[in-house]
Amino acid sequence: MNIKSFPLILTMSILLIVPPCIYAQHKTIDQRVDSLLSLMTLEEKIGQMNQYSGFWEATGPITEQGNKLEQVRNGQLGSLLNITGYEHTHELQEMALQSRLKIPLLFGQDVIHGYRTQFPIPLAEAASWDLEAIELSARIAAIEAAAAGVHWTFAPMVDIGRDPRWGRVMEGAGEDPYLGSLIAAARVKGFQGKGYGNTDAVMACVKHFAAYGASESGRDYNSVDMSYRMLNEIYLRPYKAAVDAGAATVMNSFNDINGIPATANSYIQRDLLKGQWKFGGFVVSDWGSIGEMINHGYSKDCYQAAQQAITAGSDMDMESRCYIGSLAQLVKDGKADARLVDDAVRRILTKKFEMGLFDDPFKYSNKEREKQQWNNPDNLRASRDMAKKSIVLLKNEKQLLPLDTKKKTIAMIGPLVKAVRDNIGFWSYAWPDDTARIVTQFDGVKNRAGKNITLTYAKGCGISDSSKAGFAQAVKIAKQADIVILSIGEAGNMSGEAKSRSNIHLPGVQEDLVKAVCATGKPVIVLINAGRPLVFNWTADHAQAILYTWWLGTKAGEAIADVLFGDYNPSGKLPMTFPRSEGQIPIYYNHFSTGRPPKSETDVNYVSAYIDLPNSPKFPFGYGLSYTTFKYSEPVLNRSTINASEKLQVKVSITNTGNYDGKETVQLYIRDLVGSVVRPVKQLIGFQQVFLKKGETKEITFNIGVDDLKFYDNNVNLVAEPGDFEVFVGGSSATELKKTFTLL
Ligand code: GLC
Repeated sequence: MNIKSFPLILTMSILLIVPPCIYAQHKTIDQRVDSLLSLMTLEEKIGQMNQYSGFWEATGPITEQGNKLEQVRNGQLGSLLNITGYEHTHELQEMALQSRLKIPLLFGQDVIHGYRTQFPIPLAEAASWDLEAIELSARIAAIEAAAAGVHWTFAPMVDIGRDPRWGRVMEGAGEDPYLGSLIAAARVKGFQGKGYGNTDAVMACVKHFAAYGASESGRDYNSVDMSYRMLNEIYLRPYKAAVDAGAATVMNSFNDINGIPATANSYIQRDLLKGQWKFGGFVVSDWGSIGEMINHGYSKDCYQAAQQAITAGSDMDMESRCYIGSLAQLVKDGKADARLVDDAVRRILTKKFEMGLFDDPFKYSNKEREKQQWNNPDNLRASRDMAKKSIVLLKNEKQLLPLDTKKKTIAMIGPLVKAVRDNIGFWSYAWPDDTARIVTQFDGVKNRAGKNITLTYAKGCGISDSSKAGFAQAVKIAKQADIVILSIGEAGNMSGEAKSRSNIHLPGVQEDLVKAVCATGKPVIVLINAGRPLVFNWTADHAQAILYTWWLGTKAGEAIADVLFGDYNPSGKLPMTFPRSEGQIPIYYNHFSTGRPPKSETDVNYVSAYIDLPNSPKFPFGYGLSYTTFKYSEPVLNRSTINASEKLQVKVSITNTGNYDGKETVQLYIRDLVGSVVRPVKQLIGFQQVFLKKGETKEITFNIGVDDLKFYDNNVNLVAEPGDFEVFVGGSSATELKKTFTLL
């Protein structure tokens, strides 16, 4: 068609009605994007940058949005979240294809730890330190979600969490940058599989960029203020790992960082993410965060907020309406560069092409696939496997655990024994058949205990109320039992978004219930269910056995029974430090020495300590027991010095000295004794999981190179400095098994 012979008006009208297949003739995605961009009006471009939540699920405060369906038909919405399932996704995609250029919608969803099959909350999964299992968990979540028409999950959340008052620690991988980076990469690989665009994969979205977990006082959405050195040294590492693993998208965070809200923060979004890190995907704002810059006092109105956000590299506006409402005017007023709009739209369209949505907008809305994945037994098995690996054994006096199935009476007491949906925690999906599918802790134990065991039950008390009316019945059945299993903790929705707690003790009168039951003198096993570290000192000091069971998902009850009866020897290790008191927070293992480090747990003689608490956490990072015991040899180094091109070999032998086969996570820490900035007393730089039959010994080797010793110096350069180092090996960050070496 030689368009030169047509008068301009006729050409324009043809372009306006011509189906968009003309851009489908190009080969590369870049060419197809260029071609489509050339056809788009400014309003259509901004429509692609606009995202609203769906019709029934709100995961944040709803802004007034007018007629969403009209906006879908007019190409004023590029994406919707909280729309899942064949019916809804198909119907909405049909509407999107009524728009002039027929650009398909992207469907986003918070698939954080499972979709149809709930896996343990991410913090629990982190306690497994099992990267393969964690990747498989994300893989299965992606398969189930993609089968339900989801293109894009708003996960992994990789925010470093050092403050258990913050409810969203449940969503991440804990306090350590090294472990957090490996888990971030594993989750991205799991979600994206062999590549998004395959119908069993979804785009990942690493969040919340950045440093959201450092919100002051553990209060959600609160300010973050720290040196750029600390930001790079600790908080940015897992995001970088996720981007390096190929994360398709990034979500920014609600918090301001050093006075500038993340969504308008050019340093993190343009200089670092899109600049130094060469991130080629797009950035979506977190729910309303662009418009919330008005509340921050950083923007006087949506017009200014849109200008600040697009300038700083926020490509898609979730729910604030500032882009759809103001961006076109900003461009027309010369206040926003149209090239930034084009760059944002290019990034978004590129992902839609890569997802294959222009070739087949309905490829993910597939009734058959959705049905196949709706009750997949393999997925349930994987969830149970992940759950049992996530459980941490904190105490086991006199080998009370594992239980045998000889004749006895077991009393199960506590508000969470028969809880159902609490087991799946926050950021999970409530399906109508949950009561049938979610295995309660009582049913898990009942089904495993067998006919010789009589199981009794009393709730004892509520989770948060102050009534002790149930204590008498609880004490009564405790006295009649041989062993008591107490299941206590938070409610499943007491951690998660907007769930900060100033007091992280066991809620309500639960610790009083523990005291009343322990007073019977019966052996007591305590299961603690929570989405964060809790403070439970009396229980920790008096119960004979304690399992930290987090929130373990659809198969919680079975996984807990697997561990209680020894079908699985617990192997979890804490991904966060457990404080003795809120007064110690923030508390984390990789702290600096200070000029007056305490010389012991009780040293208060002009040292950095509290006069009313021991100088240590209740349980340290990396801690977790087994039903067996492991003995470590002294680490052996193959040399005492290395230069920048050499590797230091660290060998250690571990022997299973107990009565059960078991898995140990051998952890490798260093301490840089003198640096151009102060350096932490310990820093995790490696770990290996080793399975040992009882009596078996294995030798583990670590290799340390100069890259493992690098840190951000005062000029925010990643450097390794010559000097002396200590290297530690052990089963927790409290290990004192060490040797020294020198970097030349
Ligand atoms: C929420 C959360 C974010 C989530 C988004 C969409 O406010 O902060 O993690 O992905 O909104 O639900």
